[in-house]
Amino acid sequence: MAIHPRNSSTNRFPIFKEIFGDIKKYNILDFGGSSGNLLYFSQGEILENSYTCIDISKEATDSGQSEFPKARFDYYDRYNWMYNHNGNLDLKFPNINKSYDFIWAYSVFSHTDLDEMLKTIKWMISLNPKKIAVSFLDLELALLTYFYNKRIESYGYSIDIRKFCNNDFNTVSLFDSNMLTVNKLKLESYNCDHFVTFYNIDFLKEYFAEQDIYINIITPKNSTVPFLVIDRKDIND
Ligand SMILES: C[S@@+](CC[C@H](N)C(=O)[O-])C[C@H]1O[C@@H](n2cnc3c(N)ncnc32)[C@H](O)[C@@H]1O
Repeated sequence: MAIHPRNSSTNRFPIFKEIFGDIKKYNILDFGGSSGNLLYFSQGEILENSYTCIDISKEATDSGQSEFPKARFDYYDRYNWMYNHNGNLDLKFPNINKSYDFIWAYSVFSHTDLDEMLKTIKWMISLNPKKIAVSFLDLELALLTYFYNKRIESYGYSIDIRKFCNNDFNTVSLFDSNMLTVNKLKLESYNCDHFVTFYNIDFLKEYFAEQDIYINIITPKNSTVPFLVIDRKDIND
């Protein structure tokens, strides 16, 4: 399984700083953090011993652990449509036995279904952090066009997902370039090379509010994608 690339286009630290501010004395959980790109790009602002990464790629967590021996990298063998075909879709969340101030997940729930996103966020809330920020893809024309063009580049053909850019749809999931599901919140396992889900922002807010989870949606100035943000004051306990 692949390690997420590390180059100037995958540096998300400026967005992280914009959302969380001063982070020096805080414990950070980077969910789906691959081999620790966030830690690397922080250039010492995130302290190694305050950083934990959980990822479903063993190659990535092994590589991160040897590069940053004082940080913590936990391998979590959960199924993913694109990243981990041999994993277990019902695997329990890891028991991490540590408290976290800030929880971050960048481009993780862009590659899962909504059910997975909701369950994971409930688990994150149970860790009682000060703030959670997870990126996602919304049904917005520029993003749909970006992925449409990427799929054409890779496959020579793609279902035209640009037409889903309006308020009529709640979720749209694209498997490779030729299979699509719409408004299905929990997906069966289906192995593919590329998998993305787009969400309708108003629907997301309503859906989480039905579960008593009050989310804020922001798009940081350094970001091309929106974030679902939960502050402790908004957590109902
Ligand atoms: C697009 S990459 C982003 C990596 C990293 N967040 C970054 O921005 O550099 C998505 C990552 O999410 C991980 N991932 C996907 N589903 C996951 C899950 N359910 N739990 C933990 N990690 C997951 C993948 O293994 C992959 O490393």
